[in-house]
Amino acid sequence: MTRPIMEAGIELLREHFEVVVQPEERDLSREEFLEAIKGFDGVLSMLTNRIDEEVFKAAPRVKVFANYAVGYNNVDVDMASYYDVAITNTPDALTLATAELAWGLLFAAGRHIVASDRYTRDGRFLGWDPLGFLGQSVSGKKLGIIGAGRIGQAFGRMARGFNMELYYNSPHRKLEFERSTGAKYEDLFDLLPKVDFLAVHCPYSMHTHHLLGERELSLMKSSSVLINTARGAIIDEAALYEALKNKRIYGAGLDVFEKEPEIYPGLLDLDNVVASSHIGSATYESREDMSLLAAGSIVDILINNKVPSNCLNKEIFG
Ligand code: GLV
Ligand code: GLV
Repeated sequence: MTRPIMEAGIELLREHFEVVVQPEERDLSREEFLEAIKGFDGVLSMLTNRIDEEVFKAAPRVKVFANYAVGYNNVDVDMASYYDVAITNTPDALTLATAELAWGLLFAAGRHIVASDRYTRDGRFLGWDPLGFLGQSVSGKKLGIIGAGRIGQAFGRMARGFNMELYYNSPHRKLEFERSTGAKYEDLFDLLPKVDFLAVHCPYSMHTHHLLGERELSLMKSSSVLINTARGAIIDEAALYEALKNKRIYGAGLDVFEKEPEIYPGLLDLDNVVASSHIGSATYESREDMSLLAAGSIVDILINNKVPSNCLNKEIFG
């Protein structure tokens, strides 16, 4: 295990294996990681561990990598299949936690909650202000969703209480989602100018790299708020910085960044940005479910001779 995780998953693994948890609260360097995993049959690894050909070559004994995340852009799954190594991820376990964080960021950015907190702590709150910290209302507004998978749909369903009109873009239409929420499918370029809030929920891949760049951001309303809890590089961070700085869009709530943990120079100096630290799945419930799902997938593959539903390359089992 390349980082300590919640106990439930560790206990499940201990029932079947000798478990070694890398004890330090930091990621191993690449060299340390390649060396550390050599003698193991399975590895529970983090989204900060790049799992690619170099890894499969360095640790030929490892038969499964359980990626402790739903996003697996850090893993070369095709290459894993070539080396007959199973890859699993943690879908479902963090769907609601991530959708909930997106709502938190939407309100935090739209209503200046973090800036107002800082103001209060700084002793600058001298009394109710008729024009202080004006923000954007949410109820009845138009909500755009990019990527209507599990998390995007959960985020959209949560909009019901705010009586919002839903618009979404995704590689495929999701008819049940449309029926149950009234969401309308839109081409990206029709969606962008229409919505008041836009939340990114698609996976990161070469197809979604810089999906939102200068041109796309320039099409959004100047009153709109952009939320990203997916992967940083779906948005061109330099273009986002310019759009926020020049008030081309109203604000952004970001949980993910293009070059984590580095953040684009100047982005954090802008007062229309709320920046959290990649905490989408960080609830007790979600992380416990993730730990059981990841551990369970290792037990299934190495002990039960069973292909778990969260295996990303089932074809290697023939
Ligand atoms: C977190 O970013 C995840 O993909 O689970
Ligand atoms: C605000 O506190 C109000 O009562 O309107």
